[in-house]
Amino acid sequence: MSTPYMLLTGASRGIGHATVKLFLEKGWRILTVSRHPFSEECRWPAARESHIQADLEDVDGIEALAEVVRQKLPEGKLAALVNNAGISPKGPGGSRLGILDTDADTWRHILNVNLVSTALLARALSPELFAAKGAIVNVTSIVGSRVHPFAGVAYAASKAALASLTREMAHEFGPYGVRANAIAPGEISTDILSPGTDQLVEALVPMKRLGTTTEVAKTIYFLCSEESSYINGAEIHINGGQHV
Ligand SMILES: NC(=O)c1ccc[n+]([C@@H]2O[C@H](COP(=O)([O-])OP(=O)(O)OC[C@H]3O[C@@H](n4cnc5c(N)ncnc54)[C@H](OP(=O)(O)O)[C@@H]3O)[C@@H](O)[C@H]2O)c1
Repeated sequence: MSTPYMLLTGASRGIGHATVKLFLEKGWRILTVSRHPFSEECRWPAARESHIQADLEDVDGIEALAEVVRQKLPEGKLAALVNNAGISPKGPGGSRLGILDTDADTWRHILNVNLVSTALLARALSPELFAAKGAIVNVTSIVGSRVHPFAGVAYAASKAALASLTREMAHEFGPYGVRANAIAPGEISTDILSPGTDQLVEALVPMKRLGTTTEVAKTIYFLCSEESSYINGAEIHINGGQHV
């Protein structure tokens, strides 16, 4: 069997970096996308030539990005597309951006990066996903289903819409043998966390600890592997029970 290829957005740190490491250990070839050039913090032997620099806010550039990806797939097959890049902007002093604080530009920026680019990237790479009977994993969030003290309104709405987009993908791509699922992390130990998370974890997370990026990566791997061959349209909570 030929080596499977995965495209992962937002690989330079956090959940994306842990996911790259795990898929490499499992023998996959990885292509990565983020705004900055190849990250020294997320280094592996082929990291430099596997990285594509692109800003997912530029939704008009997605077709060109997909073309670069296509040229890097030797057999025209993409076995996994992991839409992990996400942004959660804050107001002054790290404050929560509620409806009254969120202007049209902020809405556009967050929705383009967290939602619209995901739909367009899957659309542009659908021939390669269909050819591989591949898997899509969208990284949503616990805040897509409840109000959160730190996450802003546009971020929350983008993640709720991404869960909906996942169901649409499962429905539309299922007949082509492509599965689409989401993972919804809770409080995971990364740079995205706000001050005050420790108290929140103590109060709201039954397991009384943050999750690790490795725990998230393992679930992403499961959803891209044969072990999950009949799971389609699911959203898996990875939050130590915070959702209960
Ligand atoms: N950490 C948590 O507790 C948590 C909880 C729930 C959900 N999530 C979700 O999990 C995902 C990863 O989170 P994380 O904490 O690992 O995030 P992170 O450490 O902030 O990393 C975000 C990644 O996305 C890339 N990125 C940001 N804006 C981009 C853009 N416009 N175009 C292309 N790439 C872009 C960044 O690279 P560049 O800076 O180079 O662009 C980086 O690699 C996100 O979707 C987030 O919403 C995280």
